[in-house]
Amino acid sequence: MSRSAHPAGPRHADVLPEGHYSAPPSDLNALDPKVWSQTVTRNEDGVLTVGGIDAKRLAEEFGTPAYFLDEDDFRARARAWRTAFGDDADVFYAGKAFLSRAVVRWLHEEGLNLDVCSGGELATALAAGMPAERIAFHGNNKSVGEIRRAVEAGVGRIVLDSFQEIVRVAHIAQELGTRQRVQIRITVGVEAHTHEFIATAHEDQKFGIPLAGGQAAEAVRRALRLDGIELIGIHSHIGSQIFDMSGFEVAAHRVVGLLKEIRDEHGVELPEIDLGGGLGIAYTSDDDPREPHEIAKALTEIVTRECEAARLRTPRISVEPGRAIVGPTAFTLYEVGTVKPLDGLRTYVSVDGGMSDNIRTALYDAEYSVSLVSRSSDAEPVLCRVVGKHCESGDIVVKDAFLPGDLAPGDLLAVPATGAYCRSMASNYNHVLRPPVVAVRGGEARVIVRRETEEDLLRLDVG
Ligand code: LLP
Repeated sequence: MSRSAHPAGPRHADVLPEGHYSAPPSDLNALDPKVWSQTVTRNEDGVLTVGGIDAKRLAEEFGTPAYFLDEDDFRARARAWRTAFGDDADVFYAGKAFLSRAVVRWLHEEGLNLDVCSGGELATALAAGMPAERIAFHGNNKSVGEIRRAVEAGVGRIVLDSFQEIVRVAHIAQELGTRQRVQIRITVGVEAHTHEFIATAHEDQKFGIPLAGGQAAEAVRRALRLDGIELIGIHSHIGSQIFDMSGFEVAAHRVVGLLKEIRDEHGVELPEIDLGGGLGIAYTSDDDPREPHEIAKALTEIVTRECEAARLRTPRISVEPGRAIVGPTAFTLYEVGTVKPLDGLRTYVSVDGGMSDNIRTALYDAEYSVSLVSRSSDAEPVLCRVVGKHCESGDIVVKDAFLPGDLAPGDLLAVPATGAYCRSMASNYNHVLRPPVVAVRGGEARVIVRRETEEDLLRLDVG
């Protein structure tokens, strides 16, 4: 293919428009291991390889856009979480980040449990053979049908999210002649974000039962009275993409405070606490996530210390990382369709996917990195915005990125760290077909979620 250099876009810091970027990286060909999965590297031809297969071959075989998931990396991360928490704690992978039968099998093999939050996720988990007792069922408005299915299947726990649900689950379990193990999800009054720690407006959201005003204590009181449920613990989830452990510290302090109240009032020491998920990953080189063993150590120490102070037996801890396991394991591969330099602004690079395969940039103003991966280039860096093919100007994949100035149609771009909340939040907007997920390992690639087809779209359209 011929590669004609396009007219120059803005190149120098003094003419750069406002944005999130720092200076252009010194080497545009470098693939920072912080944001790329473990087996990613460039071969001698400058082409990215993952699991021993190069990106050009992957694009030819599976088409673009497509998500490529590094199975070895997924397993290594799952194992690292499992090992870090040891036998006295449980790791529940949060299926909402990305779920497929293959992923469920890997989790099962690596000794993890699974958190599901809908009938569909539950069906996938069971279809792939995850033992029901290793499944936790979440959600703020589980339907009666979903609850019944979960209880019938024998899920290990249902996390109760409201007063109505306490009664609903107890009745269903009783009707089915069983006693369902449950936790109560509470809101502890902290909301943690990436670097901030906000202690206001926290209870003003749909999840959980507020600790404030004695509501959580009242929920416990009611749960303990009902025969259909066995209250095994308290659950707290404080937010997403968290790097700062201080939010967990406050949450653990307050959850343990409630355990102490329960002990004092009812003479019962609940055996479990779940501190949720939300641990951050590196989307760009500026992010510095913690390792699972550091997180495990910090959380265990916090809970142990708090329990000692309250003279409580330390409960069994569980955590629910989703993004931290699957996020860094995949990248999205796109083909460049057009390159449009806008004088004094930036160069718009259109790829063959967009907000239908990654809504996070449009929805959360999320930041991503991007690299030219079908070749290396020594061309000067140009400030670009990588955009999709949707009929919407907010259809942005990577807001600000430096890419080589000789970028041209037909080049392949890859956006790393798209394993979590990309395929799982993908849509059919503009009737664009959702991309496949391809697992790559040891020189072999196999489709684990196939590409959607126009027949798939038309099959649902029964008018
Ligand atoms: N446990 C509970 C109860 C949760 O609500 C969540 C996420 C997790 C665990 C997993 O959190 P993680 O470790 O993956 O951050 N769509 C958003 C994230 C929404 C997360 C909702 N709950 C995003 O793309 O950033």
